[in-house]
Amino acid sequence: MAVWVVIPAAGMGRRMGSETSKQFLQLGGRPILAHTLDLFERHSAIDHLVLVVPAREQELCRQQVVGPGGYRKLRAMVDGGVERQDSVRLGLRACLAADDDLVLIHDGVRPLFDAALIEPLLAAARETGGAIVGVPVKDTVKVVEDSLIAGTPRRDRLWLAQTPQAFPFAVIREAHERALADGHVGTDDASLVERLGRPVAVVRGDYRNIKITTPEDLILAEALLAAQEV
Ligand code: C5P
Repeated sequence: MAVWVVIPAAGMGRRMGSETSKQFLQLGGRPILAHTLDLFERHSAIDHLVLVVPAREQELCRQQVVGPGGYRKLRAMVDGGVERQDSVRLGLRACLAADDDLVLIHDGVRPLFDAALIEPLLAAARETGGAIVGVPVKDTVKVVEDSLIAGTPRRDRLWLAQTPQAFPFAVIREAHERALADGHVGTDDASLVERLGRPVAVVRGDYRNIKITTPEDLILAEALLAAQEV
């Protein structure tokens, strides 16, 4: 049974406010996406990588991220879509996976994921039929409508969903194709599996696994990376 990783890295990064797409910005002197790819290239449980990058940035990606050494496990680099969900679906379609192979989906802009969580995540995905990495929220969360609080959900049940999210190939492929057919757009992959009535487990991750989205995230990521290297 093989393990595939689909890495969506086809976002425009508008919230970063920079000319360069955020996955190509430098972190510790290398593109963010190179750090992310290294996590999986180096891990013995991972067999194949599929990278989703806009067609117009694929040459840049080959030069600046893949480089002359290349990534031994990289099987395909495919164009992305309008929404993250479209990009993941296109990445899944490029996986030459068997139904019971596991697929891990991981944002290209989460370079600080702790690879020690890959094994527990894969084990949970095998046992439950799907698993994601997440952390409990630290703040109180409010539901707000028209600048007024409409509700305060109990904090002890609230978790932040991170990536990687791992599923058997047949499950995640069906979830994505059904979402497309139904015109449903979710903000993560697990939610597409949840809407099929299937269980998804949560493996407790860590708060350093930030998604680099806005300029302050990059400052934080530099500090977290420097702390890792001490
Ligand atoms: O936009 P967001 O921060 O949620 O993006 C999370 C990940 O999904 C990023 O790695 C981004 O490049 C990717 N993405 C994508 N295709 C899109 C939008 C986002 O691959 N259309």
